[in-house]
Amino acid sequence: QQLIEAMPEAKIGIIGGSGLYKMEALTDVEEIKIETPFGDPSDAFILGTLDGHRVVFLARHGRNHHLLPSELPFRANIYAMKSLGVEYLLSASAVGSLQAEAKPLDMVVPDQFIDRTKDREATFFGDGIVAHIGFGDPICPSLAGVLGDAIASLNLPDVTLHRSGTYICIEGPAFSTKAESNLYRSWGGTVIGMTNLTEAKLAREAEIAYATLALVTDYDCWHPEHDSVTVEMIIGNLQLNAKNAQLVIQSTVERLSKNPPDSKAHRALKSAIFTPMDQIP
Ligand code: ADE
Repeated sequence: QQLIEAMPEAKIGIIGGSGLYKMEALTDVEEIKIETPFGDPSDAFILGTLDGHRVVFLARHGRNHHLLPSELPFRANIYAMKSLGVEYLLSASAVGSLQAEAKPLDMVVPDQFIDRTKDREATFFGDGIVAHIGFGDPICPSLAGVLGDAIASLNLPDVTLHRSGTYICIEGPAFSTKAESNLYRSWGGTVIGMTNLTEAKLAREAEIAYATLALVTDYDCWHPEHDSVTVEMIIGNLQLNAKNAQLVIQSTVERLSKNPPDSKAHRALKSAIFTPMDQIP
């Protein structure tokens, strides 16, 4: 408790995925290590100021990219964000595209997920506390709206914005087979990645509004006219649009700070806990 109270605060958190290991425009940077009941987070948290607004940044896979998706300390990461006072969490993540219209370098703001993970701790509950959070709208529509408006306002050349879409979250670390990729297409999947659903679920349990900036890097392996995804392809395309991603985050932070939207996520636990309050250990 003392640790939590002593911490500096930021209302806006940013998690950077593959290829986004730091926010270039941050000033007054302070790096802090946070211990949590769920172990160590992926890396130190980078607190700083973005155009006058306090934010906190975390490199999801560590700044040297040493953690597999299945190895990520998702609970520690979200717990630490919560303890820093984060109310809005933006996740910038590389994804594969499952639809021809979403081409590499495009930006997608998904509104749905399909869970194909197998091996993750994806709840803070249990051990005597039973709760079931609502997850029908897994991405906060208010935050996604601000993010979408920020992308649209920048008029980025050669980048098409897709304001909705379904993110298929696989376990990895291997990419999908062609049969899987086509199955996900038939399910209506728009993009594919390995991390965001687990984060979104834990953020909801922590009553943090969460939205994904999905940066398309490849066509996975289904497209007859494009090579199957490789790590080289992902890094190449991310390097091309990492600058754009940073501009989008800056503009989103500006908008959020000026006009923080109401989010149902901030009240997610109100109607989710079964165990009577006086029975909670
Ligand atoms: N991240 C980026 N591209 C991906 C793909 N095709 N599948 C899963 N995760 C990805």
